[in-house]
Amino acid sequence: MKFYNIYFSPTGGTKKVATIVAKGMQLESEEINLMKEPDKITKVKFEKEDLCLVAVPSYGGRIPSVVTDMFRNVKADGTKAILAAVFGNRAIDDTLLELQDVLEASGFVCIAGMEAVAEHSLMHQFGTGRPDQQDEKELLEFAAKILQNSETQRIPAFPGNRPYREYNGVPLKPVANGKCTSCGLCAKECPAGAIPLTNPKMTDKDKCILVCTV
Ligand SMILES: Cc1cc2nc3c(=O)[nH]c(=O)nc-3n(C[C@H](O)[C@H](O)[C@H](O)COP(=O)(O)O)c2cc1C
Repeated sequence: MKFYNIYFSPTGGTKKVATIVAKGMQLESEEINLMKEPDKITKVKFEKEDLCLVAVPSYGGRIPSVVTDMFRNVKADGTKAILAAVFGNRAIDDTLLELQDVLEASGFVCIAGMEAVAEHSLMHQFGTGRPDQQDEKELLEFAAKILQNSETQRIPAFPGNRPYREYNGVPLKPVANGKCTSCGLCAKECPAGAIPLTNPKMTDKDKCILVCTV
């Protein structure tokens, strides 16, 4: 049995939450960082007895569109998944429900889910310093409860609605200023392929999902 800690975390808040929950699961975990190694997930053979933690930030109450794309070619075999939706200032709206739908379309069985707060990646005055000690305590307690009930086959009713909340991105896009040397680092980091390596000063505004990685 393998335990995978899978997260998409452009500014690190979701990773912090996932790390705490993974610690609470008291299992040796293999990390899959969807920002750094987006292809790794398609190469893993998820077995029925494996367990996955899948953590994503909430963007406009939805899962980041690139995460949906990343799971399109993943095939699990009834593998159990624990879901985490992380938000900064408002709410997760339909994030857990959408994540459940995406994972179940790939053959996972979702056995538990949680929402958690992390510092807002754009407006740092919201959720500043979170997850904090209290968050950590609650997340560890919740992980312990999941561990006690990990044999469950019941599919939880996650909050949210179908059709999901409409989200068309935010009208802010990165613009290169005079200090840009066209080194291409941002193009390499961009998970949406919105910044061309050949001309990093020109962000493709339709592809950009504003992950705020610095
Ligand atoms: C484009 C964008 C949209 C967001 N939309 C929401 C939202 O609808 N509700 C909310 O509470 N937080 C929202 N947030 C805040 C993120 O969910 C939060 O900062 C999260 O911790 C970011 O995860 P990360 O640190 O792993 O990148 C949004 C952030 C970004 C960048």
